[in-house]
Amino acid sequence: MPSAMGVFIKPSDPVGLIAARVPSAVRVLEEARIDYHGSGSRSLRDACSAASAPLERIMALVEEQRATESFDWSAAPLSDLIAHIVDGHHVFTRELLRRIESNLAHALRQHADRLHLIDLEVTFRAFSEDLLSHLDMEETSLFPHILGLAHRGDLSELPYSSVDFPVRVMNIEHESAEDHLGELRRLGDNFVPPPRASGALRALYADLCALERDIHEHIHLENNVLFPRALEMERTLLGPDAPPSRTSAIPASIRISEPPPPRR
Ligand SMILES: [Fe+2]
Ligand SMILES: [Fe+2]
Repeated sequence: MPSAMGVFIKPSDPVGLIAARVPSAVRVLEEARIDYHGSGSRSLRDACSAASAPLERIMALVEEQRATESFDWSAAPLSDLIAHIVDGHHVFTRELLRRIESNLAHALRQHADRLHLIDLEVTFRAFSEDLLSHLDMEETSLFPHILGLAHRGDLSELPYSSVDFPVRVMNIEHESAEDHLGELRRLGDNFVPPPRASGALRALYADLCALERDIHEHIHLENNVLFPRALEMERTLLGPDAPPSRTSAIPASIRISEPPPPRR
């Protein structure tokens, strides 16, 4: 089994690389609300600064995790990583989306006075629809393509001429998902239920919080580990004579739905 980072964590290490090599450090980073997922190439120092988190304290906590960590996603077989993403994160996401939809319907009936729940429902519907089609696209096209690269099969039989374009589309959709999550947190009282909240509202906020946390880790594993490794593998397979990517720009229409602008 690949082992975790053998050297001490440095402030200049990319925060996404730290999370890949010390998976149990994700809990520390999440609790400090440090962005290791969408901006994983930032140094730990800059990521701590952006989150107003104490660098020395975070380094000590991550170091504690590193000392006992026995797993390193950056060195695991890609087929294991993809299985972990699909069987873990994708299954969990679909289950939570169904539960959130049900509890949201109950909460809307029981808290008719809380008008922000109507906005939350609009944002949630756009978020859920985009996310479900994103998961389907990964499972039916992109991940089979990456597994085909990993198995060094006939490249002409793979779904794409290059992994570059679908990866860039997925990255854009991840940004959109993070924007939606931020909007859901804002509309959802920071996921802290108000006094006298119904059971449905409490369950709704708990599930939204769990979904946010899981999606952070899920996006991190794709943005910071799976996609860079797939791009590197493709470069190695095609060699220096590989044609440049056929697509140099992402069409604006790719971003399917934006979160609504904040209400004043
Ligand atoms: Fe995914
Ligand atoms: Fe994804």
